[in-house]
Amino acid sequence: MNYKKISCALFFAALTVNGFSQSKPAPKSKMDQYISSLMSKMTLEEKIGQLTQYTSDMALTGPSIRAGYKDDIQKGLVGSIFNAYTPAYTRQLQEMAVKNTRLHIPLIFGYDVIHGHKTIFPIPLGESSSWDLAAMEKSAHIAGAEASADGLHWTFAPMVDIARDPRWGRVAEGAGEDVWLGSLIAKARVKGFQGDKYDGTSVMACTKHFAGYGFVQGGRDYNIVDVSQRTLVETILPPFKATVDAGVGSFMTSFNELAGVPSTANKWLLTDLLKKQWGFKGFVVTDYTAINEMVNHGNVANDKEAAEAALNAGVDMDMQGAEFARYTKQSVAEGKVSVKTIDEAVRRVLEAKYKLGLFDDPYKYCNEDRARTEIMSQANLDAARDIARKSFVLLKNYQQVLPLKKSGSVAVIGPLGDDKRDMIGNWSGAGDWNKAVSLTEGIKNVAGNSVQVTYAKGANITDDANILRQLNNSGGDISVEDPEKLLKAAKDVASKADVIVLAVGESQGMTGEAASRSDISIPESQKRLMREIYTLGKPVVLVLFNGRPLTLEWEDAHFPAILETWFAGTEAGNAIADVLFGNYNPAGKLTITFPRSVGQIPVYYGMKNTGRPASPENKYSSKYLDIPNDPLYPFGYGLSYTTFTYRRPVLDKTTIKTTDKLNVSVTVTNNGNYDGEEVVQLYIRDMVGSVTRPLKQLRGFQKVFLRKGESKEIKFTLTNEDLKFYDVNMKYTSEPGDFKVFVGTNSRDTQEASFKLTI
Ligand code: BGC
Repeated sequence: MNYKKISCALFFAALTVNGFSQSKPAPKSKMDQYISSLMSKMTLEEKIGQLTQYTSDMALTGPSIRAGYKDDIQKGLVGSIFNAYTPAYTRQLQEMAVKNTRLHIPLIFGYDVIHGHKTIFPIPLGESSSWDLAAMEKSAHIAGAEASADGLHWTFAPMVDIARDPRWGRVAEGAGEDVWLGSLIAKARVKGFQGDKYDGTSVMACTKHFAGYGFVQGGRDYNIVDVSQRTLVETILPPFKATVDAGVGSFMTSFNELAGVPSTANKWLLTDLLKKQWGFKGFVVTDYTAINEMVNHGNVANDKEAAEAALNAGVDMDMQGAEFARYTKQSVAEGKVSVKTIDEAVRRVLEAKYKLGLFDDPYKYCNEDRARTEIMSQANLDAARDIARKSFVLLKNYQQVLPLKKSGSVAVIGPLGDDKRDMIGNWSGAGDWNKAVSLTEGIKNVAGNSVQVTYAKGANITDDANILRQLNNSGGDISVEDPEKLLKAAKDVASKADVIVLAVGESQGMTGEAASRSDISIPESQKRLMREIYTLGKPVVLVLFNGRPLTLEWEDAHFPAILETWFAGTEAGNAIADVLFGNYNPAGKLTITFPRSVGQIPVYYGMKNTGRPASPENKYSSKYLDIPNDPLYPFGYGLSYTTFTYRRPVLDKTTIKTTDKLNVSVTVTNNGNYDGEEVVQLYIRDMVGSVTRPLKQLRGFQKVFLRKGESKEIKFTLTNEDLKFYDVNMKYTSEPGDFKVFVGTNSRDTQEASFKLTI
């Protein structure tokens, strides 16, 4: 026996994950009959064709292109095309499939509509900072509506990978570090993209990347993942399950291995768990050439074995790899893959096309009129501006430097101060950055003639030639100027202004896929600019643009006001100016911890105690010699122009049974000078468990609006479900004993109460 196979089997075999929901086979529906009849006419090649997806040459999101893919479409050897949009282009490709093939089966068109199609919304990490589920659902809904008007059926979103390593560039695409909040957001995004039904104005969603990609070692993209069973079931899997419950139409595998098995070959994950235990009815597509990459992983000897491993694990569609196309007919002849396996995959793919209405009308989503009127409509742009404002996090506002007065002069300084390309961020799909509003433009729009606005770039994004080369090789479009001249001009401009808005951070290409960084501070070229501006002694508002947590200790110590704006989308400049000038009072809260230094990573709010909790007096305690353990800005953190005070939380019982509800109430008062919103957060801690429990776990939040001077009693209800976890036997249950409840304005600043759970 092969040792490797035994150990992997053991790792996964012991796992039964919360949410067993296998349903009874339904009686044969109209759809089943239609698809059975169609499949009875299909040859094996045509079936394999349905399991094959290629990128068009319109846009590339990976390393390769299949020459002759259009011929393949016309031979009925392709089931799906991605990276192709516009009604005219998708119609042209669809006609090839529908008119020229024997069985006239339509193609399904996919695309990475990640945070907007043409109207671009904030990057997902930014949106998650709004803690506004309805807003996130709406943004996904608009993205889906625009995409479906532009010839698309399917988006490769949401990414639901919980991520706790800000070195990983793809933290930008997710909802941050928390499992509970991440699951709610995942659900909201699926509902938004798909709508209540596929009526031609929404798209099918795709939950990705299944699974564990957020835990790549060292934060290096595509790296291996090695986590415990407990981390897998407690932290990684719940958001995926949430999207199955929300009815997501498809799943994407992840590039990484998990316990030695690449996800694309993981039968436990794709078949036993996803399809059988969770009852997922949609289909599974690989990530871009993930089958081919198995040869590098080293779990198979060659491409043919890789294709067999993927099919036998439960993959239904091969993205761009052409491995099914190349080898599967032979594998079936050799008995390495059964016809039953192929049929099951084909059925799932055809069902998706049926549900999307493509058999009724293959051109249902090619609608020039809708594309003309609905894409980038004023209503969509207004929504983008609103959601952008909600995503900003006020990190510091010493002595109320913000909001700015609408008078006097403002100097906007920094390489991101009048930039459009970066505003729409990474993975901005079909977005046209020329249409984005830069910060300087936004300030002029919002402040009008009453404020004198000047601009100077001050520094290049980076002067690191190696990084610049990499960014520009992948479409970065970054121009570099003489740093000395830039700095001098900026100091001249800045010294004449009343207030300086310093716009610094990352360029969009420094985050997202294949954009890991070992140093997550602001690049040195901009640090130099910041130091020089600081010496002018003027009021400075730091406006940050970035797709990940940055290390900001120096900035926090030197500047009075810091506003985190991520990459806020098409309306970025307008939305930021709304906040800077007080037309909108910021209320965003971080969904991912900002460390003090890279050396602290991983650092997240839901950590556990050690046997030697940090103690300054005790050398032999768990701490660093050089920095504190706590982060610079904790999870849930974010300020407002007003201030909120909290009374102690009050529980209606001190002892509950598993069948009881526990009501928690807290009075929150707006005692500052502005009306404003606050995200009131509730955390729990299970004091003793059969396995150790995190120091805090988010179990409730409410975003409330309070007028200046107003108080409100905020109520939460906890049930036994909120107290459950995987016990020492991996059973999902609660355990009797003592619990704490914490309520507060972020995960650090809370007040507590206690209760007991009895059987
Ligand atoms: C990414 C996926 C994406 C796919 C298609 C891959 O490189 O990992 O998230 O959906 O490309 O563009």
